Amino acid sequence: MSLDDKHITAKKSKAWDIELCDLRLGYGDTVVLEHVTDTFPGGKITAILGGSGCGKSTLLRHILGLRTPMSGQIYLDGRDIFTMPKKEFRRMRRRMGVLFQDGALLGALTLGENVGLPLTENTRLSKSVIRDVVRYKLSLVGLEEFADYYPNELSGGMRKRAGLARALVMDPPLLLCDEPTSGLDPINAAQMDQLLLSLKQEFPDMTIVTVSHDLASVKTIADHVLMLHNKTVIFAGSGEELYASEDPYVRRFLSRKAVPGKITGIELSSEVRAELDRWISQ
Ligand SMILES: Nc1ncnc2c1ncn2[C@@H]1O[C@H](COP(=O)(O)OP(=O)(O)OP(=O)(O)O)[C@@H](O)[C@H]1O
Ligand SMILES: [Mg+2]
Repeated sequence: MSLDDKHITAKKSKAWDIELCDLRLGYGDTVVLEHVTDTFPGGKITAILGGSGCGKSTLLRHILGLRTPMSGQIYLDGRDIFTMPKKEFRRMRRRMGVLFQDGALLGALTLGENVGLPLTENTRLSKSVIRDVVRYKLSLVGLEEFADYYPNELSGGMRKRAGLARALVMDPPLLLCDEPTSGLDPINAAQMDQLLLSLKQEFPDMTIVTVSHDLASVKTIADHVLMLHNKTVIFAGSGEELYASEDPYVRRFLSRKAVPGKITGIELSSEVRAELDRWISQ
C-alpha cells in the first residue's frame, strides 16, 4: 500500500468536518451573509438557526457547491471545495445526502423508484441489488410497506421521511437537511427528530447539518449550533451555551418574542375600502 493509499484509507474512516472560513455569500451584488467563520464538527449534528430570510438555505446551497462564495473558503473533509478539481468535487458531491424543504420527490415515480434514483443514475448496480438497498433505506424511515405508493398517496410527514431515505441511499458521509420538520404537526416533527438521532446511531461517522426554525428539535438533537442574524453569525457553540447566552437577540429568539412594532402595510384608498365594505356587508 502506498503512502497515498494509506492516507485515503485513514481519511475514509474519519467523519467529515465542515469548515467555513470568513465567508461572504450573496446573489449578484447583494450580500446575504458575511464574516461567517465556524467549524461544524464531523460525526455530529449541527443546527443552523435564524429568522426567515437570514440566509440559512443560502449557506446550505454554498456548502453543497451549488453556488460560489463572493469570498472565503469552505473545506469539506479538509479540502477546499472551490479550488479542488471539478471532477473530484462532483464525486464528493454525489456522496452528499440532501433533504430539501419539501422532500422534492418526483410525482411520476413510486416511492421505491424515487429512493433508488441516485443509485440508478450514478451506479451500475443490478435492479435486484437496488431493490434490496431501497427496501433497507425505506425500513430505516418506517416506510418499508410503501415502496409502490406514489408521492401524492402519502402524507406530508411520510413524504419528508421518503426524502430522507433517498438522501441516505448513497451512504452519505454528509447529510444536509433544510427544515426537515417544517409543515409537520408536533408529533410528526418529534418523530423526524427521533429519526435523525437514530440515524446518527446507525451511521456514527455521518456529519449532519440541519436547518431549523424549531427550537424544541435544536434542544434535543443538536451537538453544535450556528445562529445567523443581521447578515452574520450571532452565535456559534453548543446547545447548552446557546441557552446560557446573554445576547438580547438570542434570548428573544429562544423565548419566541416578536420584535415590537406596527404593521407597515400599504393603505387602501377610501374608494376601494368603501367598495370592499359594501360587498362584505351584503
Ligand atoms: N436565488 C436567489 N436569488 C436572489 N436572492 C435570493 C435567492 N435565494 C435567496 N435569496 C435572498 O437571500 C436571502 C436569504 O434567503 P434564504 O432562502 O437563504 O433564507 P432562509 O434563512 O433560508 O429563509 P427561510 O427560513 O424563510 O427558509 C433573502 O433575502 C432572499 O430573498
Ligand atoms: Mg430556507
